Amino acid sequence: MESEHIVHIPVMVTEVLEWLSPPPLQKPDEPILFIDCTLGEGGHSERFLSLFPFLNLVGIDRDPVIQQKARNRLKSFGNRVTYFQGWYDDFFSSYPLEIRPDRILFDLGISVFHYEESSRGFSFSRDEPLDMRLDPGTGLSARDILNQWSEERIANLIFTYGEERYSRRIARAIVERRKTRPFESSKELAELIFTSVPHEYRHGRIHPATRTFQGLRIEVNQELERIQRAVKSAFQVLKPGGILGVISFHSLEDRIIKNLFRDWAKSCICPPEVPMCKCGGYPLGVVKSKKPIVPGEDEVRKNSPSRSAKFRVIEKLRDERFST
Ligand SMILES: C[S@@+](CC[C@H](N)C(=O)[O-])C[C@H]1O[C@@H](n2cnc3c(N)ncnc32)[C@H](O)[C@@H]1O
Repeated sequence: MESEHIVHIPVMVTEVLEWLSPPPLQKPDEPILFIDCTLGEGGHSERFLSLFPFLNLVGIDRDPVIQQKARNRLKSFGNRVTYFQGWYDDFFSSYPLEIRPDRILFDLGISVFHYEESSRGFSFSRDEPLDMRLDPGTGLSARDILNQWSEERIANLIFTYGEERYSRRIARAIVERRKTRPFESSKELAELIFTSVPHEYRHGRIHPATRTFQGLRIEVNQELERIQRAVKSAFQVLKPGGILGVISFHSLEDRIIKNLFRDWAKSCICPPEVPMCKCGGYPLGVVKSKKPIVPGEDEVRKNSPSRSAKFRVIEKLRDERFST
C-alpha cells in the first residue's frame, strides 16, 4: 500500500510526550482518552497511538483536505480513533460530559501542508488564489477582505493581528491598488507590500509581507476568538488529574494561553479591593511549565518552523472553585 505523502514535521514531540504521556492503565475497561484538537496530518497523534496501545483518540480539524490525509495515515489504528471535522470551539461547545478526556493537546496555527500544498494563498512566496480559509467555501476569504473592507479596517486588522508597524502605509497601498484591479493572488499582495514599505524594511529578518499575511489568516479563520473559547471549554471538560498542553507560535496566541493558565492556577479570586481573602478558593489547576517550554537547538536546526514554538502545560486539579 502506498504511504500517505506527509509534509508537516510535528514540533516538540519529545516535550509533548514528556508532559502528556498517560500513566499506566488503572482499569483495563477504561482506556485513556486523548483529544488532539489540531490533528493536522496526524504527526502527534500517530506517536501517541503507537506508543500507548490502551489510548483512544479523538482528532479534530476544520480542514477537510488535511483531515483526509490524517485518516489515511492513521487507518491502521482502526476504531481507536474518532474524527471530528469542524472548528475546535464548536466541538467542545457540545461535548458529552460523561466521557471526559485525560489528555488534551492543541498545536495551534496552520500546518506546512497549508503553506506548501493547499493552494489557498497562505504563503507570500507562492502565486495562488488569496483565500486562506481552513473551511474552504465558507465565510469571507482574504481576497474578500482586501477588496471590500475600508482602509481603516484593513489597517486595524494588519496592526492588531499582524503586529505590523507599517499597517497604515500597507492599507493605503492596498486601497489605492484595488481601484485599478481587485486582488486575486498571494503574489500580487506580497509584491505590493514589498514596494509600499520603507527601503530598509524590505530586506530585514523576515519578508515584509509576513505580518500582513499572518493578520489576514487570523481574521479569516477567527483564530484568536476560537482559541480563547476552545481552550476554556477544553479545560472544563478535562478530567480532574488530566493534563492540557498548548503549543503556540506567536505572541498573540501565547498571551491568551498564559493568561488563562494563570487564572486557573490562582487560589484566590476575590476582587482586588477586598483586603482579606473571603472566597476560600482553591486553584483549579497547577501550571507545570512555569516558563514556556521551547524547542532545543537541534530541533530548530532540523525543522525551522519549530523556532517560534512555545509549549505550556497545566494539570487540572478540580472542576469547580470551592467557595464558602
Ligand atoms: C500546526 S497544525 C497541527 C499539526 C499536527 N499536530 C501534526 O503533527 O500533523 C494545526 C492544525 O489545526 C487546524 N486548525 C487550526 N485552527 C483550527 C480550529 N479553530 N478548529 C479546528 N482545526 C483547526 C489546521 O487546519 C491545522 O491542520
